[in-house]
Amino acid sequence: MVTVTPNASGFGAEITGLDIGQPLPADQLAAVKAAWAAHGVVWFPNQPLDHDQLEAFTLQFGDFGLDPYVKPLADRPHILEVRREPDETASVFGGAWHSDWSFQPMPPAATILHSKVVPPVGGDTEFADGCRAYEALSPVMRGFLDGLTTIHSATRPYGANGIYANEAPGRSMEIINCVEADSQQTHPLVRVHPVSGRKALFVNPIYTLGVAGMSEAESDNLLGFLYRHMLRDEFVYRHKWRPDMLILWDNRCCLHNATGGYDGHRRVMHRTTVAGEQPIPVFA
Ligand code: SIN
Repeated sequence: MVTVTPNASGFGAEITGLDIGQPLPADQLAAVKAAWAAHGVVWFPNQPLDHDQLEAFTLQFGDFGLDPYVKPLADRPHILEVRREPDETASVFGGAWHSDWSFQPMPPAATILHSKVVPPVGGDTEFADGCRAYEALSPVMRGFLDGLTTIHSATRPYGANGIYANEAPGRSMEIINCVEADSQQTHPLVRVHPVSGRKALFVNPIYTLGVAGMSEAESDNLLGFLYRHMLRDEFVYRHKWRPDMLILWDNRCCLHNATGGYDGHRRVMHRTTVAGEQPIPVFA
């Protein structure tokens, strides 16, 4: 029987009682999708998966997303290996709060991360709940934010002169810095979740460049306020990994952050994304 055990906050839940290495029967898949919509981040312990099984699990939630700027596994164009070796000095991949590929016209609906090698210390992944953060704001602030538009771009990490282009060599992962990453995409600051109908703050410090129509100072101050608010303890869940664990998170309403803290140890994860839709604004 599928058992869903939510965190006390309601954000994040563990799912047991199923074998995700096999195609899920319709009732189990529906239970997983319902838990994912309700809790934003769901994880499945003790689930060893090979590449075929990880891909098949992913495709039960939709088509693969488009994953630019990081070279995938040689024979698996839809699987990224998030790897860091014990002697690696490069920054931790994903080590700043973001939602995946928010600079795309249709950012992924979901990201899936499966643990292969888990370090004995550190390596946690943090998640922040954009729905609860939005709902905790005052009606006046929510009304102000509801109609705003933001500008997103991959330029800070992946642009021709981005962060990854300027670090010392020696990263295990092959990252592609290029001018295409400098292009910009607008999105609503608040998006409506297509399944739950809840509203979520949809901004992140890596890919959101600013708020359309505002001066730089206005935009920086507003975004700074929102990040401090979204990352308050009550909206954050910190996940501790064990080997053979899979996390499925809702990239439409959650931010995430790889925390590091495991220098001297190997960490290996396999990652896929599920294609998403154009973010739905509050005033559609
Ligand atoms: C990512 O941002 O996808 C990486 C998360 C992690 O390695 O914990």
